[in-house]
Amino acid sequence: MSQQDFVLAPSILSANFTRLGEEVDQVLSAGADWIHFDVMDNHYVPNLTLGPMVCKALRDEGVQAPIDVHLMVKPVDTMIQAFIEAGATSITFHPEASEHPDRSLQMIRDGGCKAGLVFNPATPLTWMDHVMDKLDMVLLMSVNPGFGGQKFIPHTLEKLRSARAKIDASGLPLRLQVDGGVGLGNIAEIAAAGADTFVAGSAIFGARSADDPHQFDSVLQQMRAELAKSQ
Ligand code: DX5
Ligand code: ZN
Repeated sequence: MSQQDFVLAPSILSANFTRLGEEVDQVLSAGADWIHFDVMDNHYVPNLTLGPMVCKALRDEGVQAPIDVHLMVKPVDTMIQAFIEAGATSITFHPEASEHPDRSLQMIRDGGCKAGLVFNPATPLTWMDHVMDKLDMVLLMSVNPGFGGQKFIPHTLEKLRSARAKIDASGLPLRLQVDGGVGLGNIAEIAAAGADTFVAGSAIFGARSADDPHQFDSVLQQMRAELAKSQ
């Protein structure tokens, strides 16, 4: 896989919310490809984060990069509609949180966004089998969802290899994303296991040095260098 096919998607869950616009601008000028936007509802997961108004505020402020909305909410359909209207680029959700995953996926595509399913560590990959043609992305959680800063679950590497085999066998151009505990120390082996899209929150925003407009340059460059090693 070439470097331009790898996507780095910083999770703003670990950003400084009091200066979110600035941190988003800085991480994008440091070379981030997408902004990963974690939506938690204190019901599907035990935490409460960002809603569609914040996504729209970023768009209104001029953010043009892809905004990758990860819905950790139940039910999902109302939020799918709200994030389509708020300017999301892609929307992923957990299939067990939707009564009708096929319909939810279709709703995302009908709204002009890319669609994806998210698999918790214990969720079997079989959920994707009958909806492959409605997917643009598959996201494997490498931690249990709800919080940033958790440790990568090693079994995810094996699951990534299985997901990569399913995607390759389908011949469809699906992205394979990984989320949770990704950092400089493991991104190369995660890529070698088949991932092409990397969410990282604490590893990127934890590298900040206050008031430096180039505070994220170094960590993103080092991640690209690690990815180059995986090839
Ligand atoms: C966890 C979220 C992740 C999280 C990743 O539920 O979906 O996106 O922010 O954070 P780190 O990279 O710190 O594990
Ligand atoms: Zn996420």
